[in-house]
Amino acid sequence: MTLTAADATAAPFVPSGNITQLRESATIAASARAKALRAQGRPIIDLGAGEPDFDTPAFIRDAAKAALDAGATRYTATEGILPLREAIASRANALLPAGAAPVAAGDIVVGNGTKQALFNACFVLFGPGDDVLVPTPAWVSYYEMLGLSRANAVAVPGRLADGLLPDVDALARAATARTRGLMLNSPCNPTGAVYGRDQLAGILALAAERDWWVISDEIYRRIAYDGPAASAFEVAAQRDRLVVVDGVAKSYAMTGWRIGWAVAPRAVAQAIGNLQSHTTSNAATVSQHAALAALTRPAEAEPAIAAMVAEFRARRDACLALLAGGESPPAVHPAGAFYLFLDVSAAARGPDGAGAAFAATMLEQHDVAVVAGNAFGAPGWVRMSYAAPTADVLEGLRRIVSAWRTGRSSR
Ligand SMILES: Cc1ncc(COP(=O)(O)O)c(C=O)c1O
Repeated sequence: MTLTAADATAAPFVPSGNITQLRESATIAASARAKALRAQGRPIIDLGAGEPDFDTPAFIRDAAKAALDAGATRYTATEGILPLREAIASRANALLPAGAAPVAAGDIVVGNGTKQALFNACFVLFGPGDDVLVPTPAWVSYYEMLGLSRANAVAVPGRLADGLLPDVDALARAATARTRGLMLNSPCNPTGAVYGRDQLAGILALAAERDWWVISDEIYRRIAYDGPAASAFEVAAQRDRLVVVDGVAKSYAMTGWRIGWAVAPRAVAQAIGNLQSHTTSNAATVSQHAALAALTRPAEAEPAIAAMVAEFRARRDACLALLAGGESPPAVHPAGAFYLFLDVSAAARGPDGAGAAFAATMLEQHDVAVVAGNAFGAPGWVRMSYAAPTADVLEGLRRIVSAWRTGRSSR
C-alpha cells in the first residue's frame, strides 16, 4: 500500500505506557550526529563513539566465512550453540576459585550483544516496586533497561578520589527496604574506573548478606591498564544471586557481530531463554561461530587483544600527559575501558547541565564530538573516547582543554 503525506499525518502516535520514560541512547545519538556532520563535509573529530577503532582479527572473519560455507545459516537453539556456551563456561570456570561449583553450558544464554543479555537479565529479575542500585555515573542503558522493566534505578554516587565509584558503605547507605538488586560495571563506562579486588569482594558480600541480585557487566574486563580488572567470578563467595554479563564486542573488536551472554543461576538462565525465545530467538548463527573462534583460539586471539590494549594504553598515557601539562579539567583516573571522563562544571552552564552545554560548544564551534554527562547521571561532566586515531584523540583533547580554559575564565 502506498502512503500519502496526508495518511502519514492522519493518526497521531501516542506512545504506549511502556515507553513514556524512554530516552534515545545519548551515546548512539552523539555518534550519529557526528557522522551526519561529517557527511556534510565538516571535519569532525569523533570522540563520541564507544567502539574499538580496530578491525575484527582476520582469523575470526575467516572462521565466520568458513562457517557460512559449512551451512551456518539456520536457526540455532535460542540459548546459542552448545560449543560456544561450553567455551563461555570454561572461560568462567578458569576464573572461579578452587572448589567453587563449576559453571555449565546450561547456565548460559547467548544473545544479540551484551546489551540484550543485560536487558534480559533486568527484565526477568526486576519489576514494579523494586529499587535497583546503580553506581553513578553509569552506562546510559542501565537506567533505561530498568525503566523498561518498571523498576526504579537508584543512582548511588561515589567520590572523585575513588573514580566516582561508590564504596560498600555508600551502597549500604543507599539501600532501602525495596532494594532488590545492584548493577556493577568494572571497568566502568563512562569513567574508566575499576573496582579493586577487595572492594568488589566487599560489595558482593554486602549484596549476598542483603539478598540482592547482582548483575555484573564485565564487557571491558580485558581492557585494563593498571593491573588486571577483577571479575565477580573470582571474588564472589556465592553465586546464587549473581548474573555475569560479557561479550565479544570490545575485547575482540567485534561490535557489529552482536554477540554477548549472561551466565546466571540455572532458573534465571531458563527464564532469560524463555524471554528471548519470544523476542529475537537465537543470536545470528554466523556470529556465534565467529565468537566461538574468538574464544577457542587463544593463540591467535590473545596477541590481538594484547596489541589493541597496548595501543589504548599508549593513547591513555598520552592523554594523561597532556592533561598534566597545564591547567585542565578534573578527570577520573582511567584504569580501564577507553574513555576519559572530565568535569567541565567550571566552564559551562545550561539547562541540561554543564556537560551538555560544553558538548554542544565542542561540536558546533570546535568540531569535536563528545558525549554529555547527563545521560550517564553526571550532568557536570563529558565523556570522550580514545578509541580513535591517536592524532585525533590528542587534537580533540587539546581543543577540549583550551575550550575549558576559555569557558572557565569567562564565568
Ligand atoms: C558498559 C557497557 N555494557 C554493555 C555494552 C553493550 O555491548 P554490546 O555491543 O555487546 O551489546 C556497552 C557498549 O557500549 C557498554 O559500554
